Amino acid sequence: MSPRLITFEGGEGSGKTTQVKFLAAWLAESGYSVLRTREPGGSAGAEAIRGLLLGRSGWDPVAEMALHFAARREHWAKTIAPSLAAGSFVVCDRFFDSTLAYQVAGQGAPRRTWEQLRAATLGTAAPDLTLYLDIPVELGLARAMARGDANRYDRLGLDFHERIRQSFLSQAAAEPGRIAVLDASRPLAEVSAAVIAVARGRLGMP
Ligand code: TMP
Repeated sequence: MSPRLITFEGGEGSGKTTQVKFLAAWLAESGYSVLRTREPGGSAGAEAIRGLLLGRSGWDPVAEMALHFAARREHWAKTIAPSLAAGSFVVCDRFFDSTLAYQVAGQGAPRRTWEQLRAATLGTAAPDLTLYLDIPVELGLARAMARGDANRYDRLGLDFHERIRQSFLSQAAAEPGRIAVLDASRPLAEVSAAVIAVARGRLGMP
């Protein structure tokens, strides 16, 4: 099987990070080489940029989007591309769909600039499969607050998070071949089972 980039997307409290770990462990147990990583971050330079992004508020939306793509380019060049070239699966917690949701739909940066930055930093590279974990905003935020790790983006209000959710849903509708929508309001084990079923089906795994 050719190497594959699988990304997870979702709003706050969607259980995305848990499912990223679950799928990476399942692939490893199935005998595949797999790298688990996240954005913003995933390489030394990109983790430094993550500190800038999550550590302060008040970025201009285009500047913030450029920082996300700078981090992503570092992550791609230093971590993702070498792992794919070495034959590993790469399972990544968030990717460029998050930038379209958060910086364009959420913060009002121009979509054209997202397209330009994407082309400049990644060319035509894209995930082979994206699992979008969909959850109603209020339920997701309640879960995120309950686990006590609310970050700057978690505190931006219901309207903001509703725009994020609608952006992910419309991205999935526009690219049904790449992006699968999973109902993340279900119990964890059911979501995990759906993750494996979709990965198997879409990647043509036994
Ligand atoms: P996390 O919650 O998955 O750790 O991600 C950290 C925050 O970064 C999350 O609230 C969403 C935000 N984010 C963006 O705003 N744009 C992006 O491109 C990415 C990757 C994350």
